[in-house]
Amino acid sequence: MLKQLDELQESALQELERVSTLESLDQWRVTFLGKKSELSQLLRSVGQLPPAERPTAGKRCNEVKIVLEEAYTARESAIKAAVLAQKLTEEAIDVTLPGRPMRLGHLHLSTQTLRQMYAIFAEMGFQVFDAREVETDEYNFELLNMPPAHPARDMWDTLYFNESLLLRTHTSPGQIHAMRKYHPEPIRVILPGMCFRYEQVTARSESMFHQVEGLAVGRNITMADLKGTMYNLARQMFGEDRRVRFRASYFPFTEPSMEVDMDCIICKGQGCRVCKHTGWLEIAGSGMVHPVVLRNGGYDPDEYSGFAFGLGVERPAMLKYHIDDIRHFFGNDLRFLRQF
Ligand code: FA5
Repeated sequence: MLKQLDELQESALQELERVSTLESLDQWRVTFLGKKSELSQLLRSVGQLPPAERPTAGKRCNEVKIVLEEAYTARESAIKAAVLAQKLTEEAIDVTLPGRPMRLGHLHLSTQTLRQMYAIFAEMGFQVFDAREVETDEYNFELLNMPPAHPARDMWDTLYFNESLLLRTHTSPGQIHAMRKYHPEPIRVILPGMCFRYEQVTARSESMFHQVEGLAVGRNITMADLKGTMYNLARQMFGEDRRVRFRASYFPFTEPSMEVDMDCIICKGQGCRVCKHTGWLEIAGSGMVHPVVLRNGGYDPDEYSGFAFGLGVERPAMLKYHIDDIRHFFGNDLRFLRQF
């Protein structure tokens, strides 16, 4: 039996040398250490040996069992280490490879223009006042001196939710919100935001666009203040040599009302396609706040006066960057947006 055990140990170890996967290792374990293995059978048959041989045979059986078990454990560790090493090689990440750069977004041209305007007005002491985009007919029209059926309402093609709720057509309703919040304190605010009109969309007109409203109310506000503010805006935004002119106009919520024009930045007043050969470009509607509007805001028009203006945002940006179609702004074509 001792010889048989020696041979068994040797052949098992030789066999183990050839084992290279965990599956075949398990097979080996069943063959050489399992319940039906030769070694187990030999162990069981020790009892049938003559009593004098039993201790030596039993001892040798256990020795072989321990040798095989240790060899098995060592082989298992070696195979696992090899598998892991191969996995690591296959999944290796080259940490020295340069990373893929993240493309950084940037502010939309309308936002950039708005921020430029905020900065210019902040220097003149105007604070930003946020007002709502969904408005009531009362604020968008009535409190601005346009009662129902007033013909001036036709100046703004309006998107209504129902009879009294609408998308604001201009930022002017914010004037009433600001006055009602601040009265009887003096006011110097700008009201930026989106406006919506049921417009025929063309190269110059969108159905949604930004405006920046300006409002100053106090005891001695005059038209000279309005003019100075508009001069300063035009020159800071479009260059120190800009000329500005005021043209009589009509808005129900200002009296008198004026359109603000500046000399064409393309042809410097000579006349070109952009300024329709007039040499001038319109930049804002403006005027002195109408007494009815002051009163609706809580200010006594005998004591207080004010000026207001409404600037487009996309149209000045079009002038500045020579953009020929307003529809590019919200067309979301990145090739356009990335240029600014
Ligand atoms: C108004 O909306 C008045 N609320 C402005 C105002 C405010 C006057 C305070 C007096 C006192 P108007 O409809 O002209 O006015 O619009 C003002 C500016 O908004 C225009 O000069 C233009 O720059 C811009 N704008 C108007 N309609 C559009 C449009 N469809 N697409 C793009 N910009 C527009």
